[in-house]
Amino acid sequence: MDRSEVQWALVTGASSGLGVQLAILLAEKGINLVLTARREAPMRDLAADLGHKHGVEVVVETIDLAELNGAAALERRLDARGIEPTILVNNAGFGLSSAFVDHEPDDLRAMLQVDVVALTELTHLFGRRMAARGKGYMLLVASVAAYQPTPILAAYGAAKAYVLSLGQSLNVELAPRVGVTVLCPGLMDTEFFEVAGYRPPAALRTMMLSPAEVARIGLDAMFAHKPNVVAGRLNKAMTLASRILSRHFQAKAVFRMSRR
Ligand SMILES: NC(=O)c1ccc[n+]([C@@H]2O[C@H](COP(=O)([O-])OP(=O)(O)OC[C@H]3O[C@@H](n4cnc5c(N)ncnc54)[C@H](OP(=O)(O)O)[C@@H]3O)[C@@H](O)[C@H]2O)c1
Repeated sequence: MDRSEVQWALVTGASSGLGVQLAILLAEKGINLVLTARREAPMRDLAADLGHKHGVEVVVETIDLAELNGAAALERRLDARGIEPTILVNNAGFGLSSAFVDHEPDDLRAMLQVDVVALTELTHLFGRRMAARGKGYMLLVASVAAYQPTPILAAYGAAKAYVLSLGQSLNVELAPRVGVTVLCPGLMDTEFFEVAGYRPPAALRTMMLSPAEVARIGLDAMFAHKPNVVAGRLNKAMTLASRILSRHFQAKAVFRMSRR
């Protein structure tokens, strides 16, 4: 697809962290943006800044993707504005960190709704429009947690494994005209840890990448139609090792590390 034809990108989770950096890079390419998340103020500030610096149009749509039918509501709002996204960045997500049996049922449901259900529905709703038009790009943000069992982040890791599998399948189903790429970040310095109540083990903290760098890696991979990309050399090595080691061994190693 000719990059000059791309006009609108819908970026979920655009109020902080990786979503902000993805929005900045897309605006630098002259792409108009729809920013969405629950917190309006940071998105309004970002919209004003990007509009001023890059002359792009930026629309803010606040939505809670933990609510049922959030994806369909977002599609209706874009239709009402006459906006047809050519890029979907499915970045919104959060983790829950504690023993699985200690999760509050409502928190667990909300996480699965945001990380799995809303992401799938957005991919489906906008993916079929892109398929009908014969062009488009979708970036699905998973995690290195998708590559092995993750005790203490068990349901989060399982949700991200779903995202990785979904995106890799769609990359083949929708090729060549619609590009689908899964971005798997390792640790990034964002609000993620505060929200998840997760303190990363010291060994993993040394591998932390900036969200700006991870955003660049993700968008480069997306525009190159890659099925998936793991951000960072050490993270890549870790995911390669996960192909050789037994999943039970990895689960025990992750569990041990999480208690340090
Ligand atoms: N940070 C890491 O180490 C790391 C590692 C691997 C993967 N990831 C993934 O990277 C993605 C971005 O996370 P981040 O690190 O940038 O964390 P973050 O700073 O906490 O950003 C998460 C974004 O998701 C949005 N979000 C959360 N719940 C939502 C809801 N119910 N409805 C709508 N939007 C919601 C948040 O916006 P509001 O709160 O304003 O709604 C925020 O914009 C996530 O999918 C995460 O799982 C992060």
